[in-house]
This record gives sequence, structure tokens and C-alpha cells, in this order.
Amino acid sequence: MSTLLSPAHATPLSADMEEWDEFLKGRYKEGKSEEEFRVYDAQANPGVAEFYRLNHEHQTFDYVMQKEREYFGLTRGEKTIWEAADFLNTLVDDSDPDTDLTQIEHLLQTSEAMRADGQPRWFILTGFVHDLGKVLCLYGEPQWGVVGDTFPVGCAYSNDIVFPEYFAKNPDLHHPVYSTKYGIYEPNCGLDKVHMSFGHDGYIYEVMKNYLPEEALYPLRYHSFYPAHKHGAYDYLMNDQDRSMFKWVHEFNKYDLYSKGHTKPDLKTLKPYYDDLFAEFFPAKIAW
Ligand SMILES: [Fe+2]
Ligand SMILES: [Fe+2]
Repeated sequence: MSTLLSPAHATPLSADMEEWDEFLKGRYKEGKSEEEFRVYDAQANPGVAEFYRLNHEHQTFDYVMQKEREYFGLTRGEKTIWEAADFLNTLVDDSDPDTDLTQIEHLLQTSEAMRADGQPRWFILTGFVHDLGKVLCLYGEPQWGVVGDTFPVGCAYSNDIVFPEYFAKNPDLHHPVYSTKYGIYEPNCGLDKVHMSFGHDGYIYEVMKNYLPEEALYPLRYHSFYPAHKHGAYDYLMNDQDRSMFKWVHEFNKYDLYSKGHTKPDLKTLKPYYDDLFAEFFPAKIAW
């Protein structure tokens, strides 16, 4: 597993993040059975497996509490959406910088695919901002703490989480409360009360929550919650609002996973449209 470096201008993105995206696409290839999903995981992806081993071992309830205290107060300065996107763009894939999409290009491909389908403006905006939380990498967070599937902490880990066997070394597995089905939560208490493993979804939700409608906030907050939106896990923690809002998480996920093409979006031509879109929902600068 390579590590992130932080030189003055560009931060090489370790292969893991790109690899993880590819892994997801393969894992959720349309028409794939649950059985094939498991086989694909176990054999073909040793790098990704190592990433999840670290993630599952370290994402404990205490770790999440500490990271929420560190980041959810939004004390890392004010930025415009473009400034945040430019900052994120300093994460580059050092393995093949010429052919891979930059971070901004991934965001634009997602939002432009939505726009081409006539999706509502708030949804297109969600497409553009959804991965801006990956700036956590630039704050020094390890990749296993920024990307990867998310899941509730403070209660039992579901077998529908990819590579569930890697929770064996997570100390919460032996905690008297956290290891139980509901843990610290009440049945169907609603996901808003549930602490999720720490990553870019939870962070971007905190940044955006005062500006966007609930339908937009759900995909931001839960787009990596694959155990729930692809496998139906944790229904026993959800309430009716979660269940109805998850249709937007599903709708969003199609674009996030499958809109990656090889044509690079032309930022110059697109910029005026996005200037208007940002101005419609945000003040000039927001807290990060
Ligand atoms: Fe994401
Ligand atoms: Fe994404």
C-alpha cells in the first residue's frame, strides 16, 4: 500500500483510490449476482483487500468520534466551490497522469451526465460536489479513512459489508454494547442518529447541510454506504424518511459509478453554467 506524499504543488494520489473506483465498478457491474460479487472480491483484488483490512480494523466507534470532533466543526477555512475543487484537483494520480481523469473531471462527468438526462438543478449540483470531501486526503487523512464503503459504528458490523472477515481485528467486535445488533441505537431510530464510519461522505454532508435540500443531502451523506443501498443491510436502523430518501441515493449511484467516459469535459465552456448553479445555492464562500 503506497502512502500519500505532500509536496508543495501536487499530491500524488496513491493507486488505491483509483483502484477502489475501478473495483466498485467491477463489483457492481450490472447483472452481477451476489455470489459473483463475493468471488470477485476475494480473488482478484489483493491491493483493495489490504485497503479494506486497514479500514475495517481501524474504523472503531472511538476513532469515528475523534474524527467527527476534528472535522465536523468546519474549522479549515472558507472557500468557494471552485476553490475547493481546485484544491482537490491537486490530488493527482501519479501512476498515469496523462490518461486518467482529474478529480474535477470526474465531478463534471457525473454532473454533466445528470444534466444531459434532464435531472433537477439541485441534483446536478450534488453530482458536482459529491466527492469534494476527498480533500480529507490533503488534510493528511489516510486513504482508508477517506474512501471505501461506509457502515454504522457503535453497533454490530453487517456481513453485507465487503470483506467482513477483516473486522476480526477491530476491537469493537468484542465490546459488550457495540458488538450487539442495535448497539447504542434504538430500533429504526433513523440514520441521522447513527454514526457512520469516517470518510468523505460524512464530511461533505457537514459542509453542505445548511445549503441543499434533503434529497441532495442523502446522496452526499450515504453514497458510499454500499451495504445499505446495494445490499439492503441495516434496514433495522432506518426510519420511513430514510427509506423514501434512499431512492435518491440509488438514482445518484448510477451516475457516480457508470458515468465515467473517456471524453474530458471542457471546463472553460462549462464554467458559466456552474457559476450560476453555485450562486443559486451557496453564498460566495462556505466553511470547510
Ligand atoms: Fe465518493
Ligand atoms: Fe464519485
